[in-house]
Order: sequence, then structure tokens, then C-alpha cells
Amino acid sequence: MNDWLIRAVRRADLDRLTELAGSRERAEVRLQAAERGNEDMLVAVVAEDVVGVVSLRWLDGCDAPNPWLYGLAVVPSARRRGIGRALVEAGQATGAVRGADMMSLDVDVDDDAAVRFYERLGYVIVRPHEHHWRAIDPRTGGITGEGTAATWIMRRQLR
Ligand SMILES: CC(C)(COP(=O)(O)OP(=O)(O)OC[C@H]1O[C@@H](n2cnc3c(N)ncnc32)[C@H](O)[C@@H]1OP(=O)(O)O)[C@@H](O)C(=O)NCCC(=O)NCCS
Repeated sequence: MNDWLIRAVRRADLDRLTELAGSRERAEVRLQAAERGNEDMLVAVVAEDVVGVVSLRWLDGCDAPNPWLYGLAVVPSARRRGIGRALVEAGQATGAVRGADMMSLDVDVDDDAAVRFYERLGYVIVRPHEHHWRAIDPRTGGITGEGTAATWIMRRQLR
């Protein structure tokens, strides 16, 4: 039996999300998007400890009109136990409930491990993509950094 549960993020999770999101600012931006209802943000919890996260963007994804799954991460000590799969499947279930036919995401072109992971979950590469990213200061809304990354867009049918 699994010892984790997947649930919607709570503001009290913020401290624990810093490592998983890469910075407190990124975690805060994602949390605020979820609080506004523009995104869903799901966390995996083991013994009340947040060990994984994923976000689902409904607006301004890179493969409209499909929802955009991003920011998936599981802490190293909890990997290869099915938690990453459970987070993606929970995101897919959320997408299906909200009427989506497909789920889209992207992975860096040189990230073979991530491509293999998503292929195990039924995703296929559909096209190359130049992902434009922006880091936003959650207090001011100002852009603190931006750049581009060569990625593959991957998609999976939801129903
Ligand atoms: C990718 C990541 C989320 C996987 O999480 P995880 O909890 O270890 O994954 P799971 O245990 O649910 O694995 C699901 C399947 O993918 C496979 N898999 C997991 N990691 C893999 C890897 N590095 N290489 C190849 N296959 C992998 C597993 O074998 C499993 O297959 P199975 O169910 O058929 O046996 C995790 O390694 C991580 O956080 N990595 C850093 C961030 C990242 O790369 N995010 C995704 C790209 S944005």
C-alpha cells in the first residue's frame, strides 16, 4: 500500500515548496496562480511532509487549448516509488474533469531521463518548441529574469 496522498496545495506548504520549486519566489508565484484559480497545484504528502509537486496551467500554456502540466518534482529521497506518476495522473484526472481532451507539457531536449519518464506515462513527443520562460517577483509583479530553452512538446490523450 502507498504511504503518500495527493492533495491540493495549501498556503502552509510554502516553506516546504521552496526546494521543490527551485526558489521561494517561484513557489509563491505558482501558489498565487493556484489561489486565483488560474492554475491547479497538487502536492504529494508523506507523513505530513510535502515530498512532491506539480502544477497545471489553464491559461497561456504553450500548446493551447490543452492544459499545460509543469513544475513536476519529487524530492530525491522519495523518487522511484511511484509518486511522480501519481502526481501526473492526478493532474490528468483534474484536466479530464475540467473537460480537457489532451494534456501537454515540455521537457528540455537533452533531458533523456524526463523524456523516458513521460514516455512510461503514455506521453509522446509531438514537436520541438522554444520555451520562453520568465521569473516574476511575486511582491511587485516585476520580471526578474527571462530566457529561452529548447524543448520537446509532449502530449497524451486523456480520454
Ligand atoms: C522525474 C521525476 C518527477 C520522477 O519522479 P518519481 O517519483 O521518481 O517517478 P515514479 O517513481 O513515479 O516513476 C514512474 C515511471 O517512470 C520511470 N522513471 C522514473 N524516473 C526515471 C528516470 N530517471 N529515467 C527513466 N525512467 C524513469 C519509473 O521507472 C516508472 O516506470 P514504471 O512505473 O513503469 O515502473 C523525478 O525524478 C524528479 O523530480 N526529477 C527532477 C525534476 C524533473 O526532472 N521533472 C520532470 C521534468 S520537468
